[in-house]
Amino acid sequence: MNISVLGIGDVGLVTATCLAENGNDVVCFDVDSARIDLLVSGGTPIHERGLAELIARNVAFGRLRFTTDAAEAVRHREVVFIATGTPADQDGSADLQYVLAAARSIGEHTSRSGASRSSRTPTTCAKRRAAWARTRCSS
Ligand SMILES: NC(=O)c1ccc[n+]([C@@H]2O[C@H](COP(=O)([O-])OP(=O)(O)OC[C@H]3O[C@@H](n4cnc5c(N)ncnc54)[C@H](O)[C@@H]3O)[C@@H](O)[C@H]2O)c1
Repeated sequence: MNISVLGIGDVGLVTATCLAENGNDVVCFDVDSARIDLLVSGGTPIHERGLAELIARNVAFGRLRFTTDAAEAVRHREVVFIATGTPADQDGSADLQYVLAAARSIGEHTSRSGASRSSRTPTTCAKRRAAWARTRCSS
């Protein structure tokens, strides 16, 4: 399956690598070009035992690649995971601005024919917050 992961932080990078290891064709997009450059050059921005080897193996197999081109990532996917950060607001609720920005980039680069494809988020947002985000993105 063609999968795209938007947000290649701790969660996104590990998720993307495991999905590639399971045989999926995974494109990883992040707005942080330094992080993507590091990954493209063979570096690993986080330390998880065995992760660097898994990344290298799946890159070599052509199942895992990294980009700062949102259009490329959105076009590639049958399924897209949003794994951007959700830092706490002052009242303790999740700040969804990065999730919403990623959702908007999906909308910007989705053709009419691809609009019914599914999106999933592995974040810890409550269902109520996710519903609120959907409302914001559709307006
Ligand atoms: N890290 C954990 O242990 C952990 C555990 C459970 C749940 N979570 C949840 O998973 C989610 C991701 O957490 P994390 O720790 O990986 O975050 P992180 O801050 O490490 O990574 C987020 C990444 O998203 C990127 N980003 C920001 N805006 C973007 C955009 N518009 N498009 C694409 N990329 C964008 C950032 O550059 C960054 O690399 C959060 O909701 C967090 O609450 C994290």
